[in-house]
Amino acid sequence: MYFPDFRPRRLRRNENLRRMVRETFLRPEDLIYPMFSAHGEGIRKEIPSMPGIFQQSITHIVEEAKEVYDLGIPAVILFGIPEHKDPLGQDAYNDQGIIQRTIRAIKLAVPELTVITDVCLCEYTDHGHCGVIKDGDVDNDETLKLLAAEALSHARAGADIVAPSDMMDGRIAAIRQILDANDFSHIPIMSYAVKYASAYYGPFRDAAESTPQFGDRRSYQMDPANRREALREAELDVQECADFLMVKPALAYLDILRDLKDNFSLPLVAYNVSGEYSMVKAAAEKDWIDGDRVMMETLTGMKRAGADLIITYHAKEAARLLKG
Ligand code: PBG
Ligand code: ZN
Repeated sequence: MYFPDFRPRRLRRNENLRRMVRETFLRPEDLIYPMFSAHGEGIRKEIPSMPGIFQQSITHIVEEAKEVYDLGIPAVILFGIPEHKDPLGQDAYNDQGIIQRTIRAIKLAVPELTVITDVCLCEYTDHGHCGVIKDGDVDNDETLKLLAAEALSHARAGADIVAPSDMMDGRIAAIRQILDANDFSHIPIMSYAVKYASAYYGPFRDAAESTPQFGDRRSYQMDPANRREALREAELDVQECADFLMVKPALAYLDILRDLKDNFSLPLVAYNVSGEYSMVKAAAEKDWIDGDRVMMETLTGMKRAGADLIITYHAKEAARLLKG
């Protein structure tokens, strides 16, 4: 079956044929939209490096949550910007904290929308690290207690799924244990199982005001050069009873998505992170690329690599294009 007898172009002759042999589909139900909830009233502040994405007070978040649900997007993931930050990130596990109040407001207004919460301390600590500092580094086991308290507090406020992003060892087991002990055995854990120490998080750290005040996150997030280590990280989280596995970032890590898809059976999530979004927006603004087409091609590529779900700042635009 070689040329000239076989000709692959036969199946590309028109859109209807191409449609019949298409292998990958992007759907609104594949998308999860991230939102930044800011303490205070009447706030709607665009993030300069992320056009179309805002830090917002709860009233505006609720309005946007309705819009998201009406577009057919099933879920949002929430990040909080608290009034006060302190060394222990106490707003993170305060039942009256910014995220807890945001969850309750969204669940009241749009109960069908799935609310996922980012479980981490970096948005709430004054030093900007993802855990408790001891001797100049993040202390793993002390941090686990606070992460467990944070996840429990989110569940109590009505979160549908908790998503730990801190990269401490043993956090999935610690969170599963505290949820199960408090009648939340039905709440799934979406693990940021494979999260690399990436420069692609730059714009997010402006949005969440979570830049580390000293050092970097390389003593807990993964080295971008490592592939086999991703399988070890995922395996540990499967053993600790994670319900979803995530790879983050996505674009430079499509091989890792495929590895996880081939080796594990849990639903797989790709996080199309802030820097990936900003690059598309910046180039499109300059008319150097067709922003819509690059967006759809990128998201389709992530699904083709193995993602079942994609967390993306493009979710609303993509859902609108898919609706036609
Ligand atoms: C918090 C967290 C980060 C992101 C999601 N959760 C930033 C970080 O680890 O520094 C990044 C998301 C993005 O860049 O869009 N741990
Ligand atoms: Zn963090």
